[in-house]
Amino acid sequence: MSRTVLVTGGTSGIGRAIAEVFIADQAEVFITGRHPDTVEQTAKETGAHGVVCDAGSPERVAALADRFGELDVLVNAAGGLPDAAPDGLPPLDALLAQWHSSLSQNLLTAVLTTASVQEKLTGGGSVISIGSIGAERRGGSYGAAKAALAAWNASTSAELAPKGVTCNVISAGFIAGTNFFQGQMTDERRDALVAETHNKRAGTASDIARTAFFLASPGARHITGQTIHVNGGAFTTR
Ligand SMILES: NC(=O)c1ccc[n+]([C@@H]2O[C@H](COP(=O)([O-])OP(=O)(O)OC[C@H]3O[C@@H](n4cnc5c(N)ncnc54)[C@H](OP(=O)(O)O)[C@@H]3O)[C@@H](O)[C@H]2O)c1
Repeated sequence: MSRTVLVTGGTSGIGRAIAEVFIADQAEVFITGRHPDTVEQTAKETGAHGVVCDAGSPERVAALADRFGELDVLVNAAGGLPDAAPDGLPPLDALLAQWHSSLSQNLLTAVLTTASVQEKLTGGGSVISIGSIGAERRGGSYGAAKAALAAWNASTSAELAPKGVTCNVISAGFIAGTNFFQGQMTDERRDALVAETHNKRAGTASDIARTAFFLASPGARHITGQTIHVNGGAFTTR
């Protein structure tokens, strides 16, 4: 029977690639994003159902959850660098705005979406959240938010695994070809990020999508509560 899959942040980059691997497996896939034009266009191009939903809004997320009877896979891909603080704010207010933005985009989006659909997740289902190598590095508010995402994932796994639902974070290294860097990536920075990998290449959205597909497969049922690092060796674990 075909699976029902929800991918937040499915209109671009990693989320879109994840949506596409599940669509290729005949799943019924729902993608979300905040902008109606990209939601509509991506839905048309991929065959997914598009839903405009800010994953940081409790009202929007609750309305999204109401669409589902049962859900097999939730992918929390929505996230990104913090919004620039409005001009003219006093320094501490600007700092607070930046931290709120990072935590909202990269942690609370996953917390809210997962809480809203968790009763609908079927036994054998999966929650997959996209973390970052920034959690292991000098990632500032963004890295701290992704580190918190991994800590939240561990407790969510303990709560949902008894129901047969696995919960894992895929911690991505540098992934080229997405909108994440908003045109700010320099050649020097790109070369430095590639140089620190063992295989001397940038990651692709497909690298993450295939890992997500595996984590939602029958072969991965005993993998839960984990952070899986996909970075070409740029960060290694013991
Ligand atoms: N690219 C990398 O090198 C890299 C490395 C490590 C981790 N990551 C993580 O991978 C995930 C995907 O990033 P990406 O590289 O694919 O970037 P991307 O191309 O910018 O995609 C981000 C997606 O998230 C959506 N989004 C952002 N905030 C949202 C919100 N509040 N509610 C709903 N949708 C939201 C965006 O659409 P709208 O803007 O229209 O809402 C877009 O669909 C992020 O969590 C990011 O932190 C990326």
